[in-house]
Amino acid sequence: MLLASAPVGAPRLRASTTMMIFLVPLVLSAFAFASPKYTSKVKESIEAPREWINLGAAPADHTIALRIALPQSNFDALEQHLYEVSDPSHSRYGEHLSKEEVEELVAPREGSVNAVSEWLEQHGIGADQVSRSDAGDWVRVRVSVGLAEKMLDTKYYVWKHAQDGDVLVRTTSYSLPSDLHSHIELIQPTTMFARPLRQKSMVSLVPDQAFASNSSNGTITDPVTGVKVDASCNTTITITCIKQLYSAVGYNSSAVNGNQIGITGYLDQFANMEDLQLFYADQRPDALNSSFKVVSVNGGTNNQTLSAAGAEADLDVQFAFGLTFPAPGTFWTTAGSPPFVPDALTPTDTNEPYTEWLDFVLSHPNPPQTISTSYADSEQSVPESFAKRACAGFAQLGARGVSLLFGSGDNGVGDGQATFNASTTECIANDGTNRTTFIPLFPASCPFITSVGATQHIPEVAVTRFFSGGGFSNYFSRPSYQDAAVASFFEKFDKNTYKGLFNPEGRAIPDVSAQGDFLRIFLSGSPILIGGTSAATPTFAGIVSLLNDARISAGLPTLGFLNPMLYSTGLAGLNDILVGNNAGCGTPGFNVTEGWDPVTGLGTPDFKKLKEIVLGL
Ligand SMILES: *[C@@H]1O[C@H](CO)[C@@H](O)[C@H](O)[C@H]1NC(C)=O
Ligand SMILES: *[C@@H]1O[C@H](CO)[C@@H](O)[C@H](O)[C@H]1NC(C)=O
Ligand SMILES: *[C@@H]1O[C@H](CO)[C@@H](O)[C@H](O)[C@H]1NC(C)=O
Ligand SMILES: *[C@@H]1O[C@H](CO)[C@@H](O)[C@H](O)[C@H]1NC(C)=O
Ligand SMILES: *[C@@H]1O[C@H](CO)[C@@H](O)[C@H](O)[C@H]1NC(C)=O
Ligand SMILES: *[C@@H]1O[C@H](CO)[C@@H](O)[C@H](O)[C@H]1NC(C)=O
Repeated sequence: MLLASAPVGAPRLRASTTMMIFLVPLVLSAFAFASPKYTSKVKESIEAPREWINLGAAPADHTIALRIALPQSNFDALEQHLYEVSDPSHSRYGEHLSKEEVEELVAPREGSVNAVSEWLEQHGIGADQVSRSDAGDWVRVRVSVGLAEKMLDTKYYVWKHAQDGDVLVRTTSYSLPSDLHSHIELIQPTTMFARPLRQKSMVSLVPDQAFASNSSNGTITDPVTGVKVDASCNTTITITCIKQLYSAVGYNSSAVNGNQIGITGYLDQFANMEDLQLFYADQRPDALNSSFKVVSVNGGTNNQTLSAAGAEADLDVQFAFGLTFPAPGTFWTTAGSPPFVPDALTPTDTNEPYTEWLDFVLSHPNPPQTISTSYADSEQSVPESFAKRACAGFAQLGARGVSLLFGSGDNGVGDGQATFNASTTECIANDGTNRTTFIPLFPASCPFITSVGATQHIPEVAVTRFFSGGGFSNYFSRPSYQDAAVASFFEKFDKNTYKGLFNPEGRAIPDVSAQGDFLRIFLSGSPILIGGTSAATPTFAGIVSLLNDARISAGLPTLGFLNPMLYSTGLAGLNDILVGNNAGCGTPGFNVTEGWDPVTGLGTPDFKKLKEIVLGL
């Protein structure tokens, strides 16, 4: 959620030019709409999203990769296991499930498997053309738009985003034979218009000489926590600053105890190895020459040309690996990003990146124990059925002992604008009412992950150059681990404020926060300062990975899903943030308060205290 304007903007411009060339054949291609030969019933229908322009029918021979979700047989039991093994007060704390145990709980019923296979066969799709997730709960098949239109009794169109020119092939409604409704939870790509990232750029370039002379010598003391940090940390955040501020100086993690950290990459964001070495030379000389593993998901590429380095990817690996060296690091490059070219043959249109990545990671016997993701889109652009299913996938990783961290967004409660801006469409509900509404982000709104907001300066306050994403989900109700913290916030909050703009019963965002602005990284060979909740997320994840390292070295299971711990025993290991707000949708947003708040969550980590807590000392 930060994202450099240059690297992201350039390819998008190219997308719109390409589209014009492609539009001609699209409009000309004839289209025959087959009438259904069975009773089909609408499965899902949405309002056409206002920021997408319908460019006309999609070509019938364009290939799409359909993902079919079969109902999971026993997700309720999985959720119960997840809460028990993640709760420090429960006797089963840390007794994570195996890959096989999780798969058994989410496997579809045989009736569903058979019904879906029969339906696919009716459309000429044999078993050899179908691939399945390890648990069998997702079925994937490549079909032409023409065939998908028959199967789903619908019509696909080409849509272009009014502002950034991204292009998608989607429909606003699809149907299924009535007797299949109980056997299929959802099918995408159909109604999903979300992209994993659409945040404004938070990159600021700072000239080299600003770093050459360290003008602010000496140390300063945080008046709130009493922690001593280098004076320069108030304006430039380095690995040393994070270690000082969060009391992790002198902690040595292991290279060989099995602890690992993973960073997800989407949208052709490449983490550059040369930039990482420059960063290490600058901030972590003992890590020089060390590397990380690049894993391609779904054909994701890894362009190591220095100028192709992504600001997000560089930031994420530099801060996460800079904090956790020598633990082995993994960077996943997941395919499926704009510019999308709807040509006839290549199914590049994989804009359900979380599930692509989830299938991949869930198929691994030992995924990294801490995983950081700095991409998101507005919750309302993700169909509720898809959000619930992706969130259920995150729960599966949590049950297996993986800690997942996601940025809460850079736009406060909506569009990041304190004054009303008529041209922005971000704060308008897409349910047909056009009412004004706050916009939480997904995956931050999933209750089974840890969402991270951003702070700045010393003493730490909520960020001001952009606004820490926060608020309440419209899809997910509040999980019980948040009840006390959120009830305490509402005691200080005037109930009539922002009435109708947010759902006070929803999952509250974020959970925690960390330094998220003025981080010094290297991008395409040069030092820059960068900010966003995307900076805060790998930073918090780095601290979590050190905690997992301590647990593993002590012979204890990993932390897994963090929130039940953070909202209980972990509270004593977090620095409460007391100043700030998160503007958006023409309002000042929420205020930071004592205790949990929808700006900085429970606060920032104190590694030393958290380590004692998680080691039971
Ligand atoms: C850090 O910078 C902020 C913003 O300029 C300032 O308010 C604060 O006093 C500074 N902190 C210290 C310890 O000097
Ligand atoms: C960490 O490693 C450094 C360098 O090897 C060593 O000087 C230091 O004592 C170690 N710290 C701890 C707490 O073991
Ligand atoms: C990194 O590699 C270079 C070149 O081989 C070598 O000179 C340097 O000592 C290495 N640094 C570390 C920290 O291993
Ligand atoms: C890598 O990126 C550079 C710079 O954007 C580009 O010129 C080159 O074509 C890319 N290479 C590949 C294989 O995509
Ligand atoms: C909502 O806005 C859209 C686009 O401006 C418009 O077409 C539609 O009529 C509006 N609906 C209502 C209920 O105001
Ligand atoms: C935030 O704090 C200001 C100053 O105390 C107050 O006027 C305002 O009503 C508060 N806003 C909210 C949403 O609580």
